[in-house]
Amino acid sequence: MKKRFITEIIRVNARKPSYAIIRKAANLIRKGEVIAFPTETVYGLGGNALDPSSVSKIYKIKGRPSDNPLIVHIADMKTFSTLVSEIPPEASRIISKFWPGPITLVLKKSKILPEITTGGLNTVAVRMPRNNVALELIKESRFPIAAPSANISGKPSPTNASHVKDDLNGKIKLILDGGSTEIGIESTVIDMTQRTPVILRPGGISKESIEDEIGKVHSHKSLLGLHRSTTNVNKSPGMKYRHYSPNAQVILVEGTEFNAKNKIIELTQKLKSQGKKVCIMTTSKSLKVNADKVQYMGKTLEAIARNLFANLREADKNNTDIIIVQGIQYNKAGFAIMNRLKKAAITSIRV
Ligand code: TXA
Ligand code: MG
Repeated sequence: MKKRFITEIIRVNARKPSYAIIRKAANLIRKGEVIAFPTETVYGLGGNALDPSSVSKIYKIKGRPSDNPLIVHIADMKTFSTLVSEIPPEASRIISKFWPGPITLVLKKSKILPEITTGGLNTVAVRMPRNNVALELIKESRFPIAAPSANISGKPSPTNASHVKDDLNGKIKLILDGGSTEIGIESTVIDMTQRTPVILRPGGISKESIEDEIGKVHSHKSLLGLHRSTTNVNKSPGMKYRHYSPNAQVILVEGTEFNAKNKIIELTQKLKSQGKKVCIMTTSKSLKVNADKVQYMGKTLEAIARNLFANLREADKNNTDIIIVQGIQYNKAGFAIMNRLKKAAITSIRV
């Protein structure tokens, strides 16, 4: 797509956004434009979910395949009830516990949603974000807002306004800059149309927390496959596409701290001797390795999640050839982080 716009970036107070700024952004949405805004998870690229022409702009700008449906964002329960045709009791329980917050429910859709918003499916994915800029924007625009992550399709999701600018400068009129996002990975997507709900994408709310609330849920079996799962792609169309991939190739190394560190050192030596530019992302502060860059991923799972995409984007700078990432645990928030890393990686080594 050709550059057509001057992209304006407006700084906005994330807790108490100025009404004038929100109104300006909401007017663009009401006119059928598409803009970027912060949520608590990642930045979204939003347009009027009920307007096929707005939604089609979103797909075009991102370069997103049209069979991969969008999440519809709402700010009140009245709008929610106009979008879905059935609300199972477990869905209501998740909503009262976690909304506004980083969990998206897949439910049977109502007739008011255009086909393009839901990629032709008979279900819709809905969430209420926990971010005042997002909530005020949705309220002021008086439409539900369809918003995928505001990155070029296939790239790591943006967690600050400059990531959005790197991907979409000249393609949209406005980026609302509400600072770095609080959670850093996307919402959990859970299919509530099954007898036992199925997690289609792990995210900001862990499986453990959901099960504490509603009992057993399944995880879709493709969640930890390397990119491009081929099984059951129709469940969540997003699963079959490569995701979260920087330009450099990502190699994931999993195993005990000791084994993983040794493998990372060995791999780095080999790749450096082949003339490659290598960046390491590690959870170990004591790793001594002769790489071009070493990035510490953080101490807690929350910190690792918050910085994950920013770290991948940072590691990708200055023509890095290979990013070697040290794997982490699979439980709680670790599951969503490992899901993103597995999808970003071209290969995964267990030692
Ligand atoms: O945290 C988030 O969810 C962010 C912020 C902006 O809200 N949004 C986001 O959207 O990550 P996106 O489009 O990048 O990812 C949406 C995911 C995709 O994997 C898509 O396939 C899935 O949700 N999805 C959307 N509608 C669906 C449906 N009706 N059935 C199954 N999966 C659906
Ligand atoms: Mg996305």
